[in-house]
Amino acid sequence: MIDSASELTRLFRILSDATRLRVLRLLWREELTVNELSEITQLAQPRISNHLKILREENLIVERRSGSLRPYRVDHKGLDPAASALWPSLEEAWRDDPQFAADDKRLTKVLAARVSDVGAGYFDQLARRWDDIRNDLFGDALGREVLRAFVPPNLTIADVGTGTGYMLHLFAGRFEKFIAIDNSEAMLAVAREKAKAAVLRNVEFRLADVETAPPLKPREANIITIVQVLHHLHDPAVVIANLANGLQRNGSLIISDFVEHDQQWLRTEFHHRWSGFTKKQITAWAKAAQLSLASWSVLPGRAYTPTPGNKVLIPDCFTAVLTHQS
Ligand SMILES: C[S@@+](CC[C@H](N)C(=O)[O-])C[C@H]1O[C@@H](n2cnc3c(N)ncnc32)[C@H](O)[C@@H]1O
Repeated sequence: MIDSASELTRLFRILSDATRLRVLRLLWREELTVNELSEITQLAQPRISNHLKILREENLIVERRSGSLRPYRVDHKGLDPAASALWPSLEEAWRDDPQFAADDKRLTKVLAARVSDVGAGYFDQLARRWDDIRNDLFGDALGREVLRAFVPPNLTIADVGTGTGYMLHLFAGRFEKFIAIDNSEAMLAVAREKAKAAVLRNVEFRLADVETAPPLKPREANIITIVQVLHHLHDPAVVIANLANGLQRNGSLIISDFVEHDQQWLRTEFHHRWSGFTKKQITAWAKAAQLSLASWSVLPGRAYTPTPGNKVLIPDCFTAVLTHQS
């Protein structure tokens, strides 16, 4: 246990030197390098370094490595709570001290110069590293937020064959209501856990087989998505017609699946019934459901090596937007 009384005595002994006190006071405010401290106090660097050494040995400050720089700051975590509590009253007592006021003025200048120094060439230096930095900072969360902003609010979205909740994760926060439909209780359980962790309260989970009965009431949803599901169905045409009934008049049914391909591994590995679909097929099924193809875009396929030496192709994926015929 820390003996606060002797800690305070120790602190006052260390601060009995006027320069050391100035240095510690500055480091209490900001993380600073020897150069910066020297500029602020207008004292030679070796003198500053000596005091930093003592403050570090007394565990009052810590040093950080930042490229070629070694900034110092007060070790707030390691500090005795009594010393921390005492500091604001000391600051109050020093309020009118002319030397401290001059230090503070120069500190402001040093901090301002720090920002403008990096100005012009700053982003040039970052260009090659920026993707890694933004990924470390945000992953793809910021991009998802921006994408979500494209979606008008007050709408109901239904995701058919929702699986573990990929679409839910992307969109639930933005829509008024999200209906997550799947015929696998295990998949829904994972999706539920994720929704709970993300504190999403506008999600209705529906255990339903879309091939057995329409999973939505007539005109229940403004948008229906069915992503990587169609190739598992016996009769996609019937399901598209059922989903069309669940769509509001000005709604969209968005299908994302593989373009027709010859990749047998998808049948053997992932039990696909269909080796993708043609634009013609989707257009015909849409027409039979009194929908029309409003847009068709393709995400190009790519080579994939599931196990060493086993190279296969992930086929092109299409996204088709179907809307009611006018
Ligand atoms: C390949 S996963 C895709 C999951 C999710 N859409 C995604 O992109 O991550 C296919 C999902 O469709 C569901 N599914 C397959 N047939 C279905 C049916 N007849 N009715 C409802 N869900 C079905 C499966 O349980 C599974 O969760």
